[in-house]
Amino acid sequence: MASNTLIEAPVVHVGNDPDILAAAARLNGEDMCSIADLSSGEVRAIVKLGHDVKRHPEKYRHALDAKQMVLMFEKASLRTRLSFEAGINTMGGNAIFVDQTNSPLGERESIADIARNVERWVDVIVLRTYAHDTITEMAANSRVPVINALSDFEHPCQALADFMTLDEHFGHVAGLNFTYVGDGNNVCHSLMLTGAQLGANVTIATPRGYSPDIEIVTLARDIAQANGCELRLLQDPQAAVEGADAVYTDVCVSMGFEHESTKREPIFRPFQVNEALMAKATPHAVFMHCLPARRNAEVTDAVIDSPQSIVFDQAENRLHAQKALLLLLLGGLS
Ligand code: CP
Ligand code: NVA
Repeated sequence: MASNTLIEAPVVHVGNDPDILAAAARLNGEDMCSIADLSSGEVRAIVKLGHDVKRHPEKYRHALDAKQMVLMFEKASLRTRLSFEAGINTMGGNAIFVDQTNSPLGERESIADIARNVERWVDVIVLRTYAHDTITEMAANSRVPVINALSDFEHPCQALADFMTLDEHFGHVAGLNFTYVGDGNNVCHSLMLTGAQLGANVTIATPRGYSPDIEIVTLARDIAQANGCELRLLQDPQAAVEGADAVYTDVCVSMGFEHESTKREPIFRPFQVNEALMAKATPHAVFMHCLPARRNAEVTDAVIDSPQSIVFDQAENRLHAQKALLLLLLGGLS
């Protein structure tokens, strides 16, 4: 069924857009381990190119002909795996999936040696890991681009798609009031950095002890200041959603933290996004979630299934935003 909320992708003049031209020149061959690897202009370029890829997929049908992409995943995935695989396949390339869930990277041979092998066969390495260092170590030892498809520290591909979705929905991102309620970890970190780079006012509400990493906070604050927007950290979800244009949450028990479920559930209960909490946001506010959701835990059915919810638009845009990223890193626009 068609999306209930999504407006058509905006028109973008890829050939002469200065952000896209600059990003195509600088990012060719680069890694994307963190949103912090990108400048504000490069984040804008991915969002704009994502819109064009969505509007005109046929233009990019052969942009990555014969390019080989390997996905090495230590954790489960639905959206990330399928959107990367479909993305490269629809641009003429090919995906190879390596299930590392029972064979953590670095166990059988060193990460550096894996990189020195894999770069001989493929054009890009997409990693989903526990330790963020696994991703940076692979990047440091690989001559082909490495993309972070989620680590315990960041989920940059998610945040790029999410802000593309907000741009599509509202027609702009700068000046939007974006509120995240929940665990201050990977998704939250990437959202903070991306929001600051695009000029959104970002408010984060986490329980005490679950606030975002201080280095990311400092970095995101510096970026926000340079872009004339604000980053606020609160512990009160009610206050955090006041005036919000978008309310975002994630699971309170991320992959790898299952052993903490019993401890976390009561701590995160007051942070549930329900109708009463959404009523404190602006009347036009959208609800967002990276998915998978644990229904009636961090978000109620009434909210995630409401007309305010744009969660499946976010999921769709994983495809378009990642195609844009691949085009830039693999030189698909030249
Ligand atoms: N949002 C997201 O990354 O989904 P998957 O874990 O299914 O890839
Ligand atoms: N924070 C969640 C995101 C899943 C896409 C996790 O790491 O499990």
